Amino acid sequence: MSLYTIGDLHLHFQSELKSEEQLHGKLWKNHEKLFQEACSELLKEEDTLVLAGDHSWGRKLSECEEDLAYIMGLPGRKILLRGNHDSFWDVKKTERLNELYRGKLEFLQNNFYTYKDYALVGTKGYTFEGPFYLSRRGYIMGWDEEEAARAEKLVEREYDRLQLSFKAAVQAGYSRFIMFLHYPPTNVLQKESCFTRIAEQYGVEQVIYAHCHGASRFHDSICGMKNGIRYSLVSGDCLRWRPMKVLD
Ligand SMILES: [Fe+2]
Ligand SMILES: [Fe+2]
Repeated sequence: MSLYTIGDLHLHFQSELKSEEQLHGKLWKNHEKLFQEACSELLKEEDTLVLAGDHSWGRKLSECEEDLAYIMGLPGRKILLRGNHDSFWDVKKTERLNELYRGKLEFLQNNFYTYKDYALVGTKGYTFEGPFYLSRRGYIMGWDEEEAARAEKLVEREYDRLQLSFKAAVQAGYSRFIMFLHYPPTNVLQKESCFTRIAEQYGVEQVIYAHCHGASRFHDSICGMKNGIRYSLVSGDCLRWRPMKVLD
């Protein structure tokens, strides 16, 4: 029995691609097929797979049904986290999604799920991604203050949602945590954030995040061990479509 994870499948069985620039390059060629093959090879029915957001390009649920059906067809238990592209998923209607897909998919938002004696907590997260102003040599000299202020509000909202997830898990008696975010826990300028601090506060063992596509972004945030926590980027192209094992 194992816990696996990956993010950013960006499926588009029913929808036109809007941001083809994100999906160009050989790493995205037949990625649905490569991922399905990797899952068949790695995952058993007793395993759990957490998908860390950006599941579909569909804008509403009716445009995502085939994408979700593809996910349902993968082996094992499937837990989904919200990404910035998952506009089919209204946060306030998470319970409705959980009802609709009961026994097939589980939607992680303001709640938690369990794996052995671990609580799987998480939220989309947020981080300021610019615009940054660069010097001629490529050093960051400044950034858009208005955007930074807007980002701060979104970070606060996501932090509140993450707290709900932790509190529900603690109330149910859990003290071991794996924390999932869609956005990286810090941006390129930060060494820490409210997300790294809450992870440390609760003694989280692993922080798992996605969202960063393309080799130039694979080191935007923390990777590896920091203050006793293992941080992993699990965007699909970074993992070359093979889910990462989180726990045995
Ligand atoms: Fe993405
Ligand atoms: Fe994303």
